[in-house]
Amino acid sequence: MNRKKLLVTGGSGFIGGNFVQYMVNKYPEYDIYNLDLLTYAGDLTKHRDIEMKDNYFFVKADIADRHAIISLFEKERFDLIVHFAAESHVDRSIADPGIFVQTNVVGTQTLLDASKQVGITKFVHVSTDEVYGELDFNPNTFFTENTPLQPNSPYSASKASSDFLVRAYHETYNLPVNITRCSNNYGPFHFPEKLIPLTISRVLNEEKVPVYGDGKNIRDWLHVIDHCSAIDLVLHEGEVGEVYNVGGHNEKTNLEVVKSIINTLGKSDNLIEFVEDRLGHDKRYAIDPSKLEKLGWIPTYTFETGIAQTINWYLENKWWWEQIISGEYVNYFEKQYSLK
Ligand code: NAD
Ligand code: TYD
Repeated sequence: MNRKKLLVTGGSGFIGGNFVQYMVNKYPEYDIYNLDLLTYAGDLTKHRDIEMKDNYFFVKADIADRHAIISLFEKERFDLIVHFAAESHVDRSIADPGIFVQTNVVGTQTLLDASKQVGITKFVHVSTDEVYGELDFNPNTFFTENTPLQPNSPYSASKASSDFLVRAYHETYNLPVNITRCSNNYGPFHFPEKLIPLTISRVLNEEKVPVYGDGKNIRDWLHVIDHCSAIDLVLHEGEVGEVYNVGGHNEKTNLEVVKSIINTLGKSDNLIEFVEDRLGHDKRYAIDPSKLEKLGWIPTYTFETGIAQTINWYLENKWWWEQIISGEYVNYFEKQYSLK
């Protein structure tokens, strides 16, 4: 019997990297291909434990390179696609939107064309709750799958555009798709430009932590392993054409997040430095996950258990993030914050 072929794009990044490891270990009967361009956000060292496995393969390619992608699909004839590859950082999209359109929009359309051409059985597009825009601070309002898309940043606008293309390929060509829209992820191998790993790594180095504005913006935090189990479920059980929101009920202000990390590491709140607010900074994100829960999703972490696990992971895996905080990332950090 032919083994199933699963293509994961962006499998050298944060969430895709965790997902590749989750799937390689859970499904020895699948051949799992990680396709990644290895931009500043992608690294292969995180896959040291799985790279020798028989069911893991790596392909370096740009999802927007039509020739490379169509040739690869024609050669490998993948059954399943889970699409993570993207430019993912809001601050970078404010500074330089063009690459976000190229990767997130043109890249997604290229993958959709290739998938249509070879006839895949499921295409899961990993999107974000940021496509819904922002909520006010009323704790009883949530994003549902029916909330209109009102993206505010160049990043979320590029993701919303890719969501519309995925929907259109289903409506027009019957491509078997799902879209998932998750809240802010955190956990092992999170690139240290995002709030939680930035705070952990800077507090451990006794460096100031930049908090935008008054620190009262709210995010709904999702542990990356709970996200992986959600995507696995949608890939195998999701109803074709449907959107599923992932996350829920772990809302914290940014200041609460930063303070909880500082306190756990036994350091002083004096490390907090309030800096100029992000342009167009969305006030609050909050997910209603009931549709996914009806499909059978049960998250395993609360914010409190998840952040403890994550802080421990960063303490035990300095080898990973210390090598990342160098080169291009250092230059970016200096430009973004002008902190000493
Ligand atoms: P990430 O930035 O850590 O990783 C992105 C990966 O994509 C990297 O390995 C990078 O090398 C690769 N990549 C970038 N451009 C590419 C290209 N042109 N061709 C091939 N590979 C390319 O991102 P992440 O945080 O793991 O996010 C993964 C997905 O989840 C993204 O689509 C993002 O929009 C979505 N998402 C992330 C979050 C979050 O909290 N991190 C929340 C909601 C949605
Ligand atoms: P981030 O991790 O960039 O994710 P997103 O913008 O996709 O939500 O930021 C999470 C929150 O933390 C967001 O409200 C912006 C804020 N933030 C800071 O206050 N300081 C920082 O240095 C960063 C990177 C983010």
